[in-house]
Formats: sequence, structure tokens, C-alpha cells
Amino acid sequence: MTSPRIGFSLQPEAAFLGLLEPLLHEHVDYFEIAPETTWRLGAAGEWVPNGFHREFLRIGAATRKPFVGHAVHGSFGTVDPRDRPRQQEWQRRIAADHAAFAFEWLTDHLGAAVLDQRAVALPIGLPMVPAMAAVVRERLVELQQVVPDVGVENSVFYFLLGDWLDEPAFLADLLRAKRTHLLLDLHNLFTMAQNTGQDPEAWLARLDTSRVIEIHLSGGEMSQPQWLPNGRTLRLDSHDHAVPEEVWRLFERWWRKCPNLRGVTLERMEGTVGPDDVATVRDELVRIRKVLR
Ligand SMILES: [Fe+2]
Repeated sequence: MTSPRIGFSLQPEAAFLGLLEPLLHEHVDYFEIAPETTWRLGAAGEWVPNGFHREFLRIGAATRKPFVGHAVHGSFGTVDPRDRPRQQEWQRRIAADHAAFAFEWLTDHLGAAVLDQRAVALPIGLPMVPAMAAVVRERLVELQQVVPDVGVENSVFYFLLGDWLDEPAFLADLLRAKRTHLLLDLHNLFTMAQNTGQDPEAWLARLDTSRVIEIHLSGGEMSQPQWLPNGRTLRLDSHDHAVPEEVWRLFERWWRKCPNLRGVTLERMEGTVGPDDVATVRDELVRIRKVLR
């Protein structure tokens, strides 16, 4: 196994990029972008590149580092035939981005991001049944016409259809085709474990770790008690804080058990990095390198 490389998520925010760009030369091996953050609507209602498309390419060229894609709106779990034209337009735009960014691999969040022809803010969990796995599998194979290595990320769902511990088997089913992979987000895993009251190790013990191509590390926070009438709080995958120690421990234990792991990506959301956070991000990137050594 060659040592996995270290990635960082580029976000469409000038202040974020300005603060962090100096770190990216030294501490990062590749960049991850959400292709959709580089689009805007053109005059005829089609997706065209926005200013961040140019800016991300500039950073890639200046640092001479490659890209991976982590999409947010493939919505592989949407079966509504009325969504088909949007899916095709999405894939056409992804192909245009791939021509510019040469994504080493491309993933999206497992779930449905479009229901009844409306975009939902967070991916909705899927029924973990063979017919649903087949739908996602077909979309992945279709996407391989654009990028040969594709995959899904284990998402955070605040509403779950079924038992969370059945998810690894569902993933194995939908990732049966060659060169379809899992992006294992350990903070998402930790968040789901906290919110369902289960053990993340039990989920991982059921996982086919040979499918893991990339690991995500990030942080989050608890929801406000006043959000729900009963005062219950949930952990959020908000990517706005340092990586929690529990997630570091999962990473330290599990990365070696993923024989096809190519990259470990640190994620931070736009709007969550100020001057005081730069040292934290740098320390986290250094710590990832240390663990992988
Ligand atoms: Fe993630």
C-alpha cells in the first residue's frame, strides 16, 4: 500500500482561500472541490462556470496539485423520472468540469438531494433495499462514462429508514460494480453513532474496508436545545470546528485497515475560518501526516 495523500476542501469564499492558501503549498497534496460551487446560472438557464471555477484552477496551477471532486447534487437516490433531465444536465456539467480539473476520482453524498423536483437542503436517507441499491449502482456506472473512479460518501441523516447498522451491507450492495468506491467520512460516522446511540466500531466492523478510497475528517457541533420542542439536541455534521478527539481515535485505528485508501481529506466549511483558526487547520494537517507516517 502506497501511503495515502492528504487533501483539503477548497470553499467558494475569498476570505477562506486568502487565509488558508499559504498552508496549502506545504501541507496539502491534493484539493477537493464540490463542482457545483463553481457554477452559476447562465442567460439561457444552463450551468456555466463562476469566478471560483477560475480561482480553484489558479490555486491548483500555482501549487501544482491535483483535484478530486466531491459533488453535492448528483442525488443518486432520486428515482423520480421527472428528475432525469436535471440528472443528465448535471452530468454534462460535471464532464465539462472534469475536462478542466481532471478529477482523480469523484464522489457524492449517499442519499436523495432532490425530491418532488425540489432541492432539499440535506441528503435524505434511502430505504436500504436491493432495488434502491440497484438505482444508485446504475447512476454510478453512468457517471463512470465521465470519471472512471466514482463513489459515495456515508452521509449524516437526521431521519433514518431502517437500522443504521444495516448500512454497511447496503453500501456493499450498491458498490458492487468495479471502480465504485466508498468515501468514509469518520465525522459523519461519529455523528450518526452519537445520534442513534450506537457504537461506531460496530458499524465499522461490518464494513468492507477494501472499498474505501478516501477518508474525511472534520468537526461539528451540537444543535440548540430550543430547536426541538422536547429540548433534545443532536450532533450536526456542520464542518465548523476542529476534529474531535473521538474522530482522531477512529482515524488512527481504521486507516490501516483500508488497503485501497488513496487520500485523507480535512474538510472545513466556508464562513467558519477566521484568522484564529488558521493554526488549528495547520496543526490538523500536520497531525494527519504524522498518523499516516
Ligand atoms: Fe464528508
